[in-house]
Amino acid sequence: MTLYSKKIIKERFLKYKNLSHIKKYPFFSIKNQFAGHLEMLVKIYLSQNLEIIGKKFVNLNKSLKHINLLPNITPGGIIVPKIETQLIYNSITSYCYKSLGNFAQNIEFVAPIAIRIKSGIVKDQSRPYETSKLHTDAWVGMLLDGIFSIGVMGDFKNNGVQFFMPNLVSDDYLGKLLNYDEGIKKFRGIKKIGQLKKSYIHMFDNIILHKTMSKKKALPRISIDFAFFLKNRKEMKFKNPDSKRFKYYPVQNYRDCGKHSLFKTFETVKDTEVRILKNLKGREGKFVKI
Ligand SMILES: [Fe+2]
Repeated sequence: MTLYSKKIIKERFLKYKNLSHIKKYPFFSIKNQFAGHLEMLVKIYLSQNLEIIGKKFVNLNKSLKHINLLPNITPGGIIVPKIETQLIYNSITSYCYKSLGNFAQNIEFVAPIAIRIKSGIVKDQSRPYETSKLHTDAWVGMLLDGIFSIGVMGDFKNNGVQFFMPNLVSDDYLGKLLNYDEGIKKFRGIKKIGQLKKSYIHMFDNIILHKTMSKKKALPRISIDFAFFLKNRKEMKFKNPDSKRFKYYPVQNYRDCGKHSLFKTFETVKDTEVRILKNLKGREGKFVKI
């Protein structure tokens, strides 16, 4: 019989106690001072990507079908940086770090930022890790403390993410599952605590449940997410972490991006297209010292 308690919830909250913006939950949602900068840079990023495939960026709604043609877009909607677009990608990284404000001083490691487009079209519900199902990223094996998510541009009212706090959780709540449907047995009771908003930066611990939602006639939106480890991290009880999938770097790389460090990529968009046709694995980008 599964036992449910507040034990892990309390442990997780303790890690954030007294940190800026934190109130009742290991979660915050605050206005992003650099929202305008990020929107501008992401527009340039999209424009550079489309240029490579001979298209022009008009606006998010009109250019969606062309963005979806990019060979460097993952099934989850991440527009992966390539040699042609890495300069702007690094600028975006730098402004994501600035967006953290004071909270950055609590962070030790960060995963590379993911610039993500969601079209608003309801996806196939049979996918094992379908994001419209209630989940925590711990269930895909993400052994990090939490995630920052920044609403950049588009239709967040109809095509968003909702965040929920579980009331009680099982002892094996944090760990990889084969699919999100199994997760329903790992908690008891939820309370809605927020939703993804344009021009806001959100922080949610790995214990926070969330799901994407898209209403009828939803238009596309772009958000940026990146996972982190807090400083003074203690051992976390975690089943089957997927350490190959989730790479992370010391936060200094983000702070010094463009000055002493750079996220370097190793293939062009054209290389990517050819490689995918051959069904080969690519060389992932990484932070290098400059
Ligand atoms: Fe998620």
